[in-house]
Amino acid sequence: MVLVSERLAAAVVGAAPGFMPERASSVAAGVDRVFAFIFWLSAFFLALIVVLTVVFVVRYRKRASRLEPEPSPSHDMRLELLWSGIPLALVFVIFGVSTKTYSRMTKLDPGAAPLRIQVTARKWSWWFDHPGGKGAGELHLVASRPTELVMASADVIHSLYVPDFRLKQDVVPGRFTRMTFTPVLPGTFPIVCAEFCGTDHSRMSATATVHPDQASFDAWAREGVAPAASLVELGKQVFLAKGCVGCHSPDGSPRVGPTFKNLWGKSETFADGTQARVDESYVRESILRPAARITAGFANVMPPVPLDEREIQGLCAYLQALKDAP
Ligand code: CUA
Repeated sequence: MVLVSERLAAAVVGAAPGFMPERASSVAAGVDRVFAFIFWLSAFFLALIVVLTVVFVVRYRKRASRLEPEPSPSHDMRLELLWSGIPLALVFVIFGVSTKTYSRMTKLDPGAAPLRIQVTARKWSWWFDHPGGKGAGELHLVASRPTELVMASADVIHSLYVPDFRLKQDVVPGRFTRMTFTPVLPGTFPIVCAEFCGTDHSRMSATATVHPDQASFDAWAREGVAPAASLVELGKQVFLAKGCVGCHSPDGSPRVGPTFKNLWGKSETFADGTQARVDESYVRESILRPAARITAGFANVMPPVPLDEREIQGLCAYLQALKDAP
């Protein structure tokens, strides 16, 4: 029965319909089948009920010849069994196809050794630690290689959602959640947060890049921050990759935290009325112990960001560059 209904749904839905993104993972077709099956089932019953309602309204409307109630049977066992049994069977079919698809999302596909990636969610950015030590603000995967994401949250509940993969999983503080799948299409796909997690929830996005082969992924994973890169470049990379950009704009536009434009060298006023010049030691304190001094007019919401000294130097250089920029 499950198989028949899946075939039926597949026949009806065919290729990914135009309003849906591409099916870029091994589980996407199954999710689309379940969706199509429930959609067309609901559409059928909606049409049936609307048509019957209209027919009955017209047929049994009030007429002069029919002012007295007509005798009618009070009970029909066969009818009762029919309209209880059919929905019950349909609900079991929905349960069957959904469970079958869901179980594929919790089991690794057999094949190449799985790619295991640690995901950290925090207000309001994603961080992906890839094998070999490469961390990044974007997710990198290999086409046709089974993948397992092990996800943790540093603060509140987030939800990792990749529409092209048809995958969504809550990321819950205090425990690890997992997502297993195999990306099938090379390309770059959007990642969004699908759990309302506060002010900048709507900006909490990233990308998933699926490399066509392992060599391409390895080349990316090897390329660290080049030692020759200028401090400003390093600072800009830190700014983008460590999630600073989620709360601090580089161009003066308002976000959760103070903008970085023209911040360097400025005399900042704090919530307790004291003032200080924005210099290296202030920037360092703000990154490692953000709650120590809160800029007046802003909330105490920034988590400490464990940057190393060179990264802090880079951010300082980047702040200077933002001030000097026209
Ligand atoms: Cu994180 Cu919404």
